[in-house]
Amino acid sequence: MTSPVGSPSGAASDPIIVAARETSGDADGAPDGGALAGAAVAGPAVAGAAVAGAGLAGGAVREAAGERAGAAPSDSASRLQVLLVDDDRTLRDGCASVLQIDGYHVTSTGRGDEAIDLLKRRKFDIVLVDLYLTPISGMDILRAALAAHRETIVIVMTGNPSVATSIEALRAGAWDYLPKPFSAQHMQILLGRASHAVAASRETRSFRDQLVEQHGNSDRITLLGVSPAFRQAVELARKVAPTDASVMISGESGTGKELIAQFIHRHSRRAGRKLVPINCAALPEPLLESEMFGHRKGAFTGADRDKAGLLETANGGTLFLDELTEMSHPLQAKLLRVLQDGVVRRVGSEQQDAVVDVRFISATNREPQDAVNSGILREDLFYRLRVVPIKLPPLRKRLEDIPLLANHFLAHYWERHRPAGDTPPKLTDGCVEFLRSRPWRGNVRELQNVIEHVAVIAEPGRPIRPEDVPVYDDPATHPPGEAVPAAIMSDAYHSAKDKLVAHFEKEYLQRLVVRAGGNMSRAARLANIDRTTLYRLMEKHGFRRDELSGTLE
Ligand SMILES: Nc1ncnc2c1ncn2[C@@H]1O[C@H](COP(=O)(O)OP(=O)(O)OP(=O)(O)O)[C@@H](O)[C@H]1O
Ligand SMILES: [Mg+2]
Repeated sequence: MTSPVGSPSGAASDPIIVAARETSGDADGAPDGGALAGAAVAGPAVAGAAVAGAGLAGGAVREAAGERAGAAPSDSASRLQVLLVDDDRTLRDGCASVLQIDGYHVTSTGRGDEAIDLLKRRKFDIVLVDLYLTPISGMDILRAALAAHRETIVIVMTGNPSVATSIEALRAGAWDYLPKPFSAQHMQILLGRASHAVAASRETRSFRDQLVEQHGNSDRITLLGVSPAFRQAVELARKVAPTDASVMISGESGTGKELIAQFIHRHSRRAGRKLVPINCAALPEPLLESEMFGHRKGAFTGADRDKAGLLETANGGTLFLDELTEMSHPLQAKLLRVLQDGVVRRVGSEQQDAVVDVRFISATNREPQDAVNSGILREDLFYRLRVVPIKLPPLRKRLEDIPLLANHFLAHYWERHRPAGDTPPKLTDGCVEFLRSRPWRGNVRELQNVIEHVAVIAEPGRPIRPEDVPVYDDPATHPPGEAVPAAIMSDAYHSAKDKLVAHFEKEYLQRLVVRAGGNMSRAARLANIDRTTLYRLMEKHGFRRDELSGTLE
């Protein structure tokens, strides 16, 4: 279907992408009006004439504002300044023509020194640069573009798209890469997505300005930690936040992966748009697929209307793929396609339903490389999603953070649970030492729960001693096998397994609901499952919430 740019046959039969403007505002309270919705796919194609040598005559630097073609990608394109740098004149002129027809204001040059000079003098929204330029390389131009304007979107074109070079460019701040040869359509889709990102970034800037005006600062995430290992992770998060690079966060349960994801989103150019979380472990495959991709009416029993998925909801914003390694292989393959070209196809659909511009942040409790080695995670998806890896250290490896976090949680929960005016208690040195000595297998979340418990029962103004700190069951101290009733072990394998799972689920639910003080939303959060799953499990075992905890939410 598609023809490489530079080929005279062009892209005559390619469908082109037309962006539509969303009519409703952003539910998150982002400023209204700029949201470019998922694009509809429409035929017929931009003429093949758009490619191959249809460029402008003259010197090394050429400039032209394109006529708005009827099917240009977006209203905002005509206002966008694009710099195109490639020493292959045919390709350069071909690309420039396609983009001008689509309404971009294009400046092109074949020389690196001229490109750097231009970048210093003028602000470009999008820079499309060949990675293999000499004597000044595409990487040099990428760095110069970002040094001049951090917000500039740089797309690198690579004739030799090895994973290593592309990843290197993405790590250095490139927004995406375009492997050569590419079709006019491929470039148009990519530039369409880039324009959405520019629009979102402009909105975010005005949103941030508003916040700073109202509250003095826009940073509402409390990320505490002084240990070098934690600070290093936060610094990396801060550095990568303004780029569109995919981030993979790994770390044990409760180390703050979701918090880091929120921090990155809040500091990104997409902060005014949504951060949409999806827990890949919480739903069985068909449900997860329809949650993520949406579905068409009649796609399955109960699908009584068309429904957009979370990928479309996250358009212009960030999708947080929690527990990524729990995603099935077919879904990983489907997700990879969205990462490659932004095209979303709803379940039961015969066509491409939307083109989305989404930034991906993923998280996992496993070691991601191990998940790849053992075949759980597709390698190509891993490389796409792990452009920047962030590893969060377990709490037991950052003991310096324990006093800070414990005092913060104590103040927080004291304020929440106790009447105003009650004198807050203080943690004794002995208590802090005791806290530092615990294994904290549940990491910050476990510490948070323990301190909440302390805040609820402590006497106002009385110091908190080690014996006031509840010690929850530590599974590591249980003798092996104790949790498994002996009778089960002599049953047939499948029946024994089912009984054991049921036994575990019951035991787990009982403890969970007690831990969450009877609050189901909190229980679901602690267990990292959604509330529907929690209710289903409780129903399965005949539990009533009030029986378990004595309290209702
Ligand atoms: N550095 C921190 N400063 C303040 N609060 C923190 C910090 N790290 C984690 N928390 C708090 O600890 C709890 C657990 O954090 P979070 O949900 O981000 O962990 P997680 O790694 O995603 O856990 P899981 O793997 O179980 O999903 C949250 O309530 C979060 O606010
Ligand atoms: Mg989490």
